[in-house]
Amino acid sequence: MKFFSGRTESIPQPEISQQDKDKEAFDDYVSHLDLREEDLRKTILDVGSGKGRFAKYAKDHNINSEIYSADPNPPTKAGSKAVRALGEQLPFKDGQFDLVVSNASFPAVFINPKEIWDPFFKENNPAPLESRLKQALNEFLRVIKINGEVRLGRVQTEGKNKANKAIELIFSKILDELVAGGEIEMEKIPKEYMRARDFTDDPIKLKGDPDEVLMRLVLLKIKKLK
Ligand SMILES: C[S@@+](CC[C@H](N)C(=O)[O-])C[C@H]1O[C@@H](n2cnc3c(N)ncnc32)[C@H](O)[C@@H]1O
Repeated sequence: MKFFSGRTESIPQPEISQQDKDKEAFDDYVSHLDLREEDLRKTILDVGSGKGRFAKYAKDHNINSEIYSADPNPPTKAGSKAVRALGEQLPFKDGQFDLVVSNASFPAVFINPKEIWDPFFKENNPAPLESRLKQALNEFLRVIKINGEVRLGRVQTEGKNKANKAIELIFSKILDELVAGGEIEMEKIPKEYMRARDFTDDPIKLKGDPDEVLMRLVLLKIKKLK
């Protein structure tokens, strides 16, 4: 799946059915979150779920009907197990889930890049980035059981721009503190590189080397120890 694909009107795109979109989303989750059969049987919360296609596909295909979806934009596809919520404030009980997943969402899209490079945003933001990311991660850990897992898919690393670099640094610090405190155990699994051409199909917008590596995506598996 491509994000920010920058498609132009002049290039006709084939119609993709809702079912195909659900399947595409589900397959993307399975591949980026390394979801095995035993994982898919668990009680799962999907944070930053988008429309909730992962939960919808799993329910429609009798894979799992215990997947909850949370997103600040209403997760319209996910039925009764969908909530409109921020990851920083999850309306769920302590230890309610076996697994929290977040794909292509946390930490990068939880922030406004202006918070990194615009001094006005930096100074006037009510909750600084570090505390907001900490708050969200603490919420993910709160709602899973001990020995439960948080899996973050498509986490952006080795990014070239200032915002990517800043988020990676802040987020690593937060994770290192939790590891040092014996709160979590963590595994980092490198996935694909994102290249310039992955961000646009438009040859005019694509200046420079289309094979230039812009960032590397990784999967973070975080186990709650206490
Ligand atoms: C790139 S989309 C990914 C959607 C879906 N997970 C997928 O892989 O197709 C990022 C999602 O994160 C959500 N998001 C942004 N800020 C958030 C926050 N603070 N808490 C929870 N979700 C957030 C957005 O509304 C959006 O649906």
